[in-house]
This record gives sequence, C-alpha cells and structure tokens, in this order.
Amino acid sequence: MPAPAIRVFKDLDELSREAATEFSSLASRGQPEGKPFCVALSGGHTPKRFYEFLATPEFATKIPWDRVQLFQVDERCVPPGDGQSNYRMMREAMLSHLPAADKHFHRMIAERPDRDGAAADYAADLRTTLRTPAHEWPRLDLIFLGMGDDGHTASLFPGSAALEERQRAVYPNWVEKLGMWRLTLTLPVLNAASRVIFLVAGEEKAERLRDVLHPANDAARFPAQLVQPLEGTVAWYLDQAAAQQL
Ligand code: 6PG
Repeated sequence: MPAPAIRVFKDLDELSREAATEFSSLASRGQPEGKPFCVALSGGHTPKRFYEFLATPEFATKIPWDRVQLFQVDERCVPPGDGQSNYRMMREAMLSHLPAADKHFHRMIAERPDRDGAAADYAADLRTTLRTPAHEWPRLDLIFLGMGDDGHTASLFPGSAALEERQRAVYPNWVEKLGMWRLTLTLPVLNAASRVIFLVAGEEKAERLRDVLHPANDAARFPAQLVQPLEGTVAWYLDQAAAQQL
C-alpha cells in the first residue's frame, strides 16, 4: 500500500479546482468493458465549492456524464429538503445545474423510517451498478472524503458502531455526539476503492490533521486513519490553513 500523497493548495478555491480537474480527467479516461465510472461524494461544507466547479461549463462540458454514476458517502437521516441534508447541498451546488448528472445520482433515502432497509437497498444498488461479483466488496473508482475536527470521516465517528461493521456495505449509524442517525458507507467499502481523495480545509482542522497524518505512535486513533485501501491510493488535498501544523 503506497504512502498517501499530500498536496497543499493556497486556499479552498484552488483545492476545489484541482479536485474538479482530477474528477474530469479520470472520468474521461474510459473504463474497462464499458463499465460506468463510479464515484462517491461526501457532504459537509468543504466539498461544496468543488461541486460548484463541476457544474461550471469549464468542467461540465468535458465530463461524459452518461458514463458517470454518482453515489453518496453518507447522509443525515433527514428529508431531502432539510437544511442538514447532504443531498440538498449537492443538488443546490451541482445537480440542479446538471440535469445529465442528476439522472445518474443515487440518493441515500435516509429519511426512510426503516433505516436498515434503506441501508440494505442502497448497498444492493451499489452492487448492481458496480457489477460487483458475489462475495466481493463494491469497488468504487473514486471516493471523495472529508474529515471532521474529531478525526471522523464519512459518518464513521470515533466510538460509533459503524466503525466495527465488517458485513454490511452501508450502515445506519447512531451518532451520539450529534444525537442523530446517519447512513454511511462502511470501512470495507472505503478500503475497496481504487482511489480515495480527502478534501480538508480550514485552520480548525490543522491540529487533528497533524495527529492523523503524523501520529505520535503507529496506533490508529482516528477513523480517518483507518482508510487504507488494499489495492488503491489515498491522496490528501489540503489548503494552507489546514496544513499549517504538518
Ligand atoms: C457529512 C460528511 C462528513 C464530512 C466531515 C467534514 O455528512 O458531514 O460527509 O464526513 O466530510 O464532517 O465536514 P466539513 O467539510 O463540513 O468540515
């Protein structure tokens, strides 16, 4: 497993533009056996600018959207119109401006009362779309992750049950510190990916980022450290503010 690549950009704008450039270039490469290019996208604040870039003509006109399938890394268990909904953020930043991409977006129906059923259905959709052979984990081509200042990534929060999940690809996770449910991809899926890119910006992430990337000892203390794809690569795209303690 190669060491993660660390790239530092001047600010969020530059970081987001580079993420859009990478997305566009990988999506345009073409996939073996006509498979779609399958990407999972995170929520939160940081990737919003990146999604806005994807919707600009500079990128939107180059990306072969009919060969791209978009999934969610995680979703808050709220209706899609709620201010906390990751889907809503993605729709406003990108999907509503890109009808062609919207058709290939797989929304986590996290507002369903039967969260186990919602998670199982999403996992089934992943497997079908990715043409995942039986007994293998769905292998996404690209996953964009974020990191919270407590070291969580996706909705894998420190001490939460989803961190231990090794059977299911999608898990309904109770997040005690937020008092809310979330649906999240699990570690086996993150670690089956071909490529993972973390997007982290802002001074408030600097200290935790230092702990995660340069741990005082080898023990993994934070969920973000557990993302180590077996046959894939990890890159960290940081702005200078987040990277200041590295
Ligand atoms: C979410 C996420 C989550 C996010 C981090 C960082 O739904 O919130 O997908 O893992 O990436 O919390 O969030 P910010 O970018 O808002 O700091």
